[in-house]
Amino acid sequence: MMRSSILTVAFATASAAATLDWAAAYEKANASLAKVSQNDKINIVTGVGWNKGPCVGNTAAASSINYPQLCLQDGPLGIRFATNANAFVPGIHVASTWDRALMRERGQFMAEETKGAGIHVLLGPVSGPLGKNPTGGRNWEGFGPDPYLQGIAMAETIEGMQSVGVQANAKHYILNEQELNRETMSSNLDDRTMHEIYLWPFADAVHANVASVMCSYNKINGTWTCENPYALDTLLKKELGFQGYVMTDWNAQHSTAPAATSGLDMTMPGSDFNGGSIYWGSKLSQAVSSGEVPQSRLDDMVRRILAAWYLLGQDSGYPATNLDADVQGTHKTNIRATARDGTVLLKNEGNILPLKKPAKLGLVGSAAVVNPQGMNACTDQGCNTGALGMGWGSGTASYPYFVAPADAIKARAEADGTEISLSASDSTSSVSSTVDGADAAIVFITSDSGEGYITVEDNAGDRNNLDPWHNGNDLVKAVAAANDNVIVVVHAVGPVILETVLAQPNVKAIVWAGLPSQENGNALVDILYGDANPSGKLPYTIAKSADDYGTSVVPGNDDYKEGLFVDYRRFDQDGIEPRYEFGYGISYTNFTYSDIFVDGRPTSGPATGAIISGGPADLWETVLTVTVTITNTGEVQGAEVAQLYVGFPESAATPPKQLRGFEKLALEPGAKDNVAFELKRRDISIWDTEKQSWIVPAGTFNISVGSSSRDIRQTGTLEVP
Ligand code: BGC
Repeated sequence: MMRSSILTVAFATASAAATLDWAAAYEKANASLAKVSQNDKINIVTGVGWNKGPCVGNTAAASSINYPQLCLQDGPLGIRFATNANAFVPGIHVASTWDRALMRERGQFMAEETKGAGIHVLLGPVSGPLGKNPTGGRNWEGFGPDPYLQGIAMAETIEGMQSVGVQANAKHYILNEQELNRETMSSNLDDRTMHEIYLWPFADAVHANVASVMCSYNKINGTWTCENPYALDTLLKKELGFQGYVMTDWNAQHSTAPAATSGLDMTMPGSDFNGGSIYWGSKLSQAVSSGEVPQSRLDDMVRRILAAWYLLGQDSGYPATNLDADVQGTHKTNIRATARDGTVLLKNEGNILPLKKPAKLGLVGSAAVVNPQGMNACTDQGCNTGALGMGWGSGTASYPYFVAPADAIKARAEADGTEISLSASDSTSSVSSTVDGADAAIVFITSDSGEGYITVEDNAGDRNNLDPWHNGNDLVKAVAAANDNVIVVVHAVGPVILETVLAQPNVKAIVWAGLPSQENGNALVDILYGDANPSGKLPYTIAKSADDYGTSVVPGNDDYKEGLFVDYRRFDQDGIEPRYEFGYGISYTNFTYSDIFVDGRPTSGPATGAIISGGPADLWETVLTVTVTITNTGEVQGAEVAQLYVGFPESAATPPKQLRGFEKLALEPGAKDNVAFELKRRDISIWDTEKQSWIVPAGTFNISVGSSSRDIRQTGTLEVP
């Protein structure tokens, strides 16, 4: 019974995704365009003003075509300001599951809630910031600094969301990599880096038929993104064939006509946060009357917005907007699974984990318990008090409930008859009495960040450094001085420097618990007790020193001097030893790899296909299949994320290895199975700036398959003539 209903849902989802039809949507949009007045057209492209409607963004209804007041609401992990919705796991933690099915299901469940609340556009997912600066405040909203992993997560999320009829929004387009000066700075970079690193995941979003894109606050090579013809028209609409609409980030507009003629389609929220500075509305109307903005451009804006609305079937039976609707359903299953499967085991000396019915456990740290002021006490989660589940800012949601580590561990300990002592404080003075005589001590440390309009403990959005907060290093030292079996649990928005922690010989295990949202404690207990075998892998590099990344938040403009060499691409290129490399994560079992087989004969040269959503059609064709066999050689069931990295011919001047495939495979002990990586033409192409085209370079490609970016188990080569 259960099983067949799951299959039905899966089938319905797949067919809904397959039925998204831009041509049909455009036909309907054209018919409606003929019926709306000029005034309606202006209203459809202009927000009604900040705080003038039920959602963070609203436009006016057009009754002649039954077009509603469009509701646009944050954000990337669920519905902001809802009172009866779930707070899904943040993007960065979803990325660390490397699990396509969970990514897609999360998107679907978020959208079911969104639709239930009558919201038309959910403002996510995020792949800008990509995360080139490890301290960047909003990196946790997206899926990490590897464009390929970002791209897959974007596509899965968008397809999941749009399968239930909600418009997704790929944001922030593009190069908004830090919070400091985000509304004044220019991101200056070369065309190749733009294509191969930052545009890449947005291409996946467009290929997945994303309905809308949000242009970002910053400038690109000196021109505001929301009036940048290169970004909006050349890249997004022409090169990627984007058929939906571009909206501004909230008040990221700086002009009337230049924005309109560069490709902007909708302004949000339609006034500044004080009700002034309206660039569209009546000003756009005048600009069209005077001929400064062609009527055809206004019509194109409206057509794109209406087409997206029709594309998702929102013209019939869409629920009325109600942010208080109870929409939670049983979606917390995805939150727990994602929180659990995104947890990365970094160290497990002497197999101290999983716990085996300990007689006594000592728990230490303020992050072991829920914020004593309440789980939602801080506006937009703008504090790091108590257990951490997400960063702060507009990309947050209220928790409907919150299970902290101590709650879940206590419940589990009761069943085992384990005595628990707890010091829910970061003070080192109460440590020894708490952990004395315990079989193991679990110490909780954190690092938080968020959006720049809120400053938390002196961090103005971006993190000040990569050290644990609240003197976490000293806390770990104190615990390690008082107990021989220390398990460090880290809840963090991104990399943290762990050298002090690792210098304590009594630190036997490190559990990288990431950002698990409301299922924080439950997911942790699943891993600590071995009810689930850890299967997460790092979606970024953990360095030995913050300087090793070679990128950081800058005070003025950012010249992107690192080019293609972001995160592991730099560590590999410059021979820098990371502490824990991109893609790393251990398990309670072991996996072996064998029998690599490389199949395919791609030819060199440019992609030439007709432009479809996402770029030239042939770029998206599978040209290569690589298979390997993986065997679970350990004692327990587990899942391995097999990763495929491509090394391009030397002439291509690319980073030594680039992720171009991954598959997560669950295996019983002793079992083996094959994984197949299907590489698209795009996966072996580079951007040729002169030809303004993707080309497959001729020469020898190295194919590496392994358990992380540095734990390569099988290699093969591919000769491209
Ligand atoms: C953020 C966007 C968000 C918008 C509306 C902006 O400050 O950058 O991500 O969607 O506010 O809340």
